[in-house]
Amino acid sequence: MKTASSKSELREIVRQWKRAGQIIGLVPTMGYFHKGHISLMERCRELADKVVVSIFVNPAQFGPEEDLDRYPRDIERDLSLSKDARVDLVFVPDAMELYPPGFQTWVVVEEVSQGLCGASRPGHFRGVATIVAKLFNIVQPDLALFGEKDYQQLQVIRQMVRDLDFPVEVVGHPTVREVDGLAMSSRNSYLSPSQRQTALCLKEALDLAEEMIHKGEQDAEIIKKEMAGLIQGYPETRIDYIVIAEPDTLTPMERVDLPAIVALAVFVGETRLIDNRLFH
Ligand code: PAF
Repeated sequence: MKTASSKSELREIVRQWKRAGQIIGLVPTMGYFHKGHISLMERCRELADKVVVSIFVNPAQFGPEEDLDRYPRDIERDLSLSKDARVDLVFVPDAMELYPPGFQTWVVVEEVSQGLCGASRPGHFRGVATIVAKLFNIVQPDLALFGEKDYQQLQVIRQMVRDLDFPVEVVGHPTVREVDGLAMSSRNSYLSPSQRQTALCLKEALDLAEEMIHKGEQDAEIIKKEMAGLIQGYPETRIDYIVIAEPDTLTPMERVDLPAIVALAVFVGETRLIDNRLFH
């Protein structure tokens, strides 16, 4: 497995692969790998000849009050897990390499960035779209994989690729869950044992939505109210949002007409967790 910390090193390696006609797959990450990341790498291995993983905790997607400084990091472990997953190249740039002094160009995906996480994390998707655009330009992959847990992020990136004509196929990959159903996230490491139990309320609220939708409930307000009631029954929870929306544009629905995405963000203590479920 190769590693590169500069854009020029990375470009040189990828150029040779491309010259040999190989299909390049990219898995962009912020590191601190869990099984969700590994399954993205494994899927990429199936779809591409060469698997490139980037590890970069992108300061531009964190708000001033958010967890940039305490975001978990363990680069040695990440490199060893990447090697086990048969990754070909890991890109580990530092912030100076990607945001040198004088940096001033941003990618803003307008409408689909606005609701859900975009409403409570101003500037977050501008940071995500900008770093992903940069990584696409640096690596020039044929395809790139993103987890469906960050559903809005996936739609923001799909929109950006369409609007700016990136020659990259964006592949969404199903959320990987713990045995009890908690969506895997690097931020789960912040949870105390009792908060870890409480964190199950997101999955349980989605189960409740599923049950109501299958029984024919179509009033989004009623479903959201029931979900909120369930979550509020758990200690240390604060609901950021519960949204039922059209899956591509993320426009909220009053009347649930399938397909629909149910997405939510909940603080458990200080930790903000997200999850979603798609209904066809
Ligand atoms: O999903 C993530 O880990 C990040 O938002 C991404 C896509 C790597 C951009 O920094």
